[in-house]
Amino acid sequence: MPTESPSSAATLAGAGLRAPVGIFDSGLGGLSVLRAVRAQLPDEAMLYVADSLYAPYGERDDDFIADRTLAIGEWLVKQGAKVLVVACNTATAQSIALVREKLPIPLVGVEPGVKPAALQSKTRVAGVLATQVTLRSARFQALLERYAEDCRFLCQPGHGLVQAVERCDVNSAELRALLRSYLQPMLDAGADTLVLGCTHYPFLDAAIRDIVGDRLTLIDTSIAIARQLERVLDQHGLRAAPQNGSTLPRFYSTGDGAHQQQLAATLLHIDAAVERVLIPSRRTAAPDSQPA
Ligand code: DGL
Repeated sequence: MPTESPSSAATLAGAGLRAPVGIFDSGLGGLSVLRAVRAQLPDEAMLYVADSLYAPYGERDDDFIADRTLAIGEWLVKQGAKVLVVACNTATAQSIALVREKLPIPLVGVEPGVKPAALQSKTRVAGVLATQVTLRSARFQALLERYAEDCRFLCQPGHGLVQAVERCDVNSAELRALLRSYLQPMLDAGADTLVLGCTHYPFLDAAIRDIVGDRLTLIDTSIAIARQLERVLDQHGLRAAPQNGSTLPRFYSTGDGAHQQQLAATLLHIDAAVERVLIPSRRTAAPDSQPA
């Protein structure tokens, strides 16, 4: 589910309606959110940053994730972003409060769709696939307490899944075996709903479908995030005016960007170059500066 932070209109001075929407993820997963945003808001220009050099965040400590999220948010503000979508459940879970305090633009975060799953599940058993960091976060535990009600949530860390998507593996035999090891116990326990609690996982939907058929309803919150972004832009008077044809997003990566370009081309049908960027942070100082 999307989350939003308040912002001050004064801090938006100069942002301009044609300013881009900044979207960020630890890697390629946020492209599933970008796809939904493009469909919902075709007039908006977009800057997308994949922090692929440091993915997966799900294997990192909390301070590292907060440090990278803040540095990338600040970098996007410097590029003129008028709003930031933290298209990463793990980064939202660990750092949205901090980043919200520090950045002068509105923020939209993401969180696993526990609420829609609890509303939809008929068997009252639902699975959640997310990173270990997301699942153990106070934010996710609060979400369960608030919305799970009488529904039992089987929470499974998706070890290895982010890495697979990062190398553009969305359907290999090894990947399907890994997915089966996570999903079969949910099916055996009577689950009828599966929350995709990581923005990388919607790219695995075909592989998941091969395993579970119609037995699980998949909850992907990317469309809800795009709608939330639309509301935030409207609230702040930041919606771009209608354009003649949509502009291509500008893609950046802290890694070499080759897989980003490949995934965008094959799954989003966007042919755009990926520019490599160096975004130093306290925990990842630039090569010519002293380590923090
Ligand atoms: N797409 C990120 C998420 O939604 C993946 C985190 C990671 O890099 O482990 O959680």
